[in-house]
Amino acid sequence: MNKNNTKDMELIINMNNLYKTLMDKVDIGIHVINNEGKTIIYNKKMMEIESMSTEDVLNKNLLDVFKFKENQHSTLDHALKTGKTTKNVKQTYFNNKGKEITTINDSFPVIKNGKINGAVEIAKDVTQLELVIKENVLRKKNTKFTFDQIIGESNSFQTVIEEAKMATRTTSSVLIVGETGTGKELFAQSIHNGSNRSIAPFISQNCAAIPDSLMEGLLFGTKKGAFTGAIDRPGLFEQADGGTLMLDEINSLEPSLQAKLLRVIQEKIIRRVGDTKDKKVDVRIIATINEDPIDAISDNRLRRDLYYRLSVVTLFIPPLRDRKEDIGYLSQSFIKKYNALFQMNIKQINNRVKHLFQQYDWLGNVRELEHTIEGAMNLITDEETIDVHHLPARFRNKISDRQKNNAMSPINTDFQQTLHDKMAEVEKNFIQQTLEEHENNISHAAKSLGISRQSLQYRMKKFGL
Ligand SMILES: Nc1ncnc2c1ncn2[C@@H]1O[C@H](COP(=O)(O)OP(=O)(O)OP(=O)(O)O)[C@@H](O)[C@H]1O
Ligand SMILES: [Mg+2]
Repeated sequence: MNKNNTKDMELIINMNNLYKTLMDKVDIGIHVINNEGKTIIYNKKMMEIESMSTEDVLNKNLLDVFKFKENQHSTLDHALKTGKTTKNVKQTYFNNKGKEITTINDSFPVIKNGKINGAVEIAKDVTQLELVIKENVLRKKNTKFTFDQIIGESNSFQTVIEEAKMATRTTSSVLIVGETGTGKELFAQSIHNGSNRSIAPFISQNCAAIPDSLMEGLLFGTKKGAFTGAIDRPGLFEQADGGTLMLDEINSLEPSLQAKLLRVIQEKIIRRVGDTKDKKVDVRIIATINEDPIDAISDNRLRRDLYYRLSVVTLFIPPLRDRKEDIGYLSQSFIKKYNALFQMNIKQINNRVKHLFQQYDWLGNVRELEHTIEGAMNLITDEETIDVHHLPARFRNKISDRQKNNAMSPINTDFQQTLHDKMAEVEKNFIQQTLEEHENNISHAAKSLGISRQSLQYRMKKFGL
């Protein structure tokens, strides 16, 4: 081989490698068939979209591998047989394991010397987006909660209910702060249903559940052609027009989208991705966060400017362990709920269970309590009261742990609980003392404590000062 030939070979090998790398790096699915309908190229993204491996597909006839519904055909096969190009066609079909796949495709024939030599399909995965949209349609129907279903008599909880009721009279944004299972969704729905927006939609979207790349299109909508596979679709803002949009776990929203969200709230206009025109929208935002917003700001999970805008009304829902007097009321109401549902006639929880519930730290809050009662009622046969042996093992273990601890040391009964309470107590007292020293001047007290005004106000609210 002469020198030039070697160079050519090197070039071909390099190009081939480059082409293989490119195929696997692009974010669109590529599927190529030859003139017999057999797959000759099937890239990595396509494998992801269709949940298949190369071996499942390569050198096989496309129609042997994928199944289409009766009234649908494969656009790729269509391109091969008819020589026609199709663009932005939505297809739903099944892979070899029966999994449903939805894509939006461009398909076109490969023509050589006037003859159809094969066909190419370029696909954008919309299965995920479809799922999200379906879920939202389901959720839209599920706006049933009102204030009279919110149970809780403790002072701190009653204060939150009062504040939330006041928020039904306005259209201001609301920020609901609370640990998982404290009832954030319950409050958001109650505010919507108690307001004059109640006839309009309530849409709730968890920001943590959606990949960043899909979130912008989901919130603001897309315009046909904005990206491969994009179709004209309204976003959640348009769908919630006139009503309420609840954005769950706002701290999981990408900062650049938080900035866009802020603009929409301020200007009340949205622009679909890929569009050049603005649209007016009238949507009330209720955002939720399951951590201290001040921590989220300092760790760059929440933009400060968005926080100021959202926190016009801030509702801090205390965790269940900080309002133990509510446990009895809540238990009773869940017993009533599941009596009706299971056709049972349970009267109450017995004293031993009451005592255990008071000791427990309820990291899953009211949701965990509800599940505990529901689970117990599944185990009851002839009795009328819920007893310790109906509870999950973690409660029963707690008793035996305590008995063991008691045997060794009478003080060390529940270290975690004591530490948590103790820390909160120290923090509360220190803040109270500092406020008194500065005659309740928040700016001065905050400065002396070395925290921001907002952080102090948040803590005052949290501790009911
Ligand atoms: N005060 C309450 N009275 C009656 N039921 C409640 C109360 N708080 C919560 N629940 C019930 O507990 C469950 C969890 O409530 P919800 O979904 O509103 O919590 P959340 O704060 O949104 O939780 P997450 O952060 O995990 O989304 C629901 O079934 C709700 O009905
Ligand atoms: Mg929730």
